Amino acid sequence: MKFWIHTYGCQMNERDSEAVGVLLRRHGHTEAAREAEADLLIVNTCSVREKAEDKAIGKLGMLVATHKADGAGTIVGAMGCMVERLQAALFARVPGLDFAVGTHRFSRVPDAVAGARAGARILDVGGEEACPGALTGHVAGRPSAFVNILFGCDRRCTYCIVPRVRGREWSRPGRDVTEEACEVVAAGAREIVLLGQSVMSYGSRNEVWADGPVSPRGFREPLTRLLEALSTIEGIERIRFASGHPSGCTPELIRAMAELGPVCEHLHLPVQSGSDRILKRMRRGYTTAVYRAAVARLRKALPGIALTTDVLVGFPSETVEEFDRTRGLLDEVGFDNAFIFKYSPRPGTPAAQWADDVPPAEKRRRNRVLLEDQERRGLRINKDHVGRGVEVLAEGASPRNPARWSGRTRTNKIVVFEPRPGVTAGDLVRVRVERARAQTLYGQIETAGEPRSK
Ligand code: 5AD
Ligand code: SF4
Repeated sequence: MKFWIHTYGCQMNERDSEAVGVLLRRHGHTEAAREAEADLLIVNTCSVREKAEDKAIGKLGMLVATHKADGAGTIVGAMGCMVERLQAALFARVPGLDFAVGTHRFSRVPDAVAGARAGARILDVGGEEACPGALTGHVAGRPSAFVNILFGCDRRCTYCIVPRVRGREWSRPGRDVTEEACEVVAAGAREIVLLGQSVMSYGSRNEVWADGPVSPRGFREPLTRLLEALSTIEGIERIRFASGHPSGCTPELIRAMAELGPVCEHLHLPVQSGSDRILKRMRRGYTTAVYRAAVARLRKALPGIALTTDVLVGFPSETVEEFDRTRGLLDEVGFDNAFIFKYSPRPGTPAAQWADDVPPAEKRRRNRVLLEDQERRGLRINKDHVGRGVEVLAEGASPRNPARWSGRTRTNKIVVFEPRPGVTAGDLVRVRVERARAQTLYGQIETAGEPRSK
């Protein structure tokens, strides 16, 4: 069949969609050039906020209505987090849905498709204890590749649905990760992005280096050993990992970030709130002082590091004063980018039992205030780059304007530039920045084939 996968949610979801796409190809299906041409439509869903679920439900309903009405045998399926949360109830929300596959069953999507073609309605969920390991398989030729290192989450933030839909933590053995990294580099990747909900917990619940090599730098922590092993792979120019937690910003990790050439000067470190009372109620496991101390250690060892974050506004009982503290902390840290979310209760989480008492209009106000602050802050930080040269990993034609190319700096800033003959996706180029916006830098290629900057 001709498939099309529509993805909501985080980078792990993007990665899962890619892996399922590769698996479907192995089973004889082909990817459609566009949604309208597909006869196998899959929505990879997210449960983190109510809005994300509403969007996926809306999309699925629309796909059923527009693609199945002609009775030509088009199949519509759902996969991922929302399937795990709603299970059979999803079929009631989306009448006409053919299959639904949960977060631990992605390897069975081809079976679900076959079952649906035979006329059955397939629900395949649960099964985390018999963790089947990661689905490997990447689309060749992409300069940047996601590699899963940690599944699930053992943290218990009171607002978060993730532990329920992604299950308990399980880390992939270091050798599996390095093997997959070698494969994706052989297929053209120059950047590896290591993924996990709380990636700094890598190797804390299960052993990942049982027969691992001795660390030349004397690293003892599982993540630093992994970063070190990956850094030696020929052809890897950049390594990133997301998301972080202040407790994981150990002296050893910071040393690894400073010493290992390919490890980028960027960290996504969700802060969520600048109020100690709210952080405690969120059960985040740090205070603002601990967070600040982690930032100070990072900045000391890596002066040019870019920090990005997530913030939740309108958490139950958050006062205006507490919100103002969040605002102040964001300003103090000077984040390069911040993703701001309005709290929405997720059924079954502890916070869902507390009154959702910040009125919607006030949540919207807090959201807007932080977005406007970040716009100004991002612009100020980015304007500092004007006139300077930055190292960019060229990714290819810009999605918005194919006449221009885009790529990213080591600090994860998007750079748009004019293509040049001889420069191909996956090349490192030096771009002189001419103009800056809060989210994007614009410039011209100075030199191609930039050597490593660390
Ligand atoms: N409501 C709104 N935002 C949420 N997030 C997690 N749970 C919720 C929720 N219930 C946000 C957090 C997290 C990001 C991925 O989504 O900020 O870091
Ligand atoms: Fe959404 Fe979380 Fe699932 Fe990612 S892991 S898709 S953010 S619910």
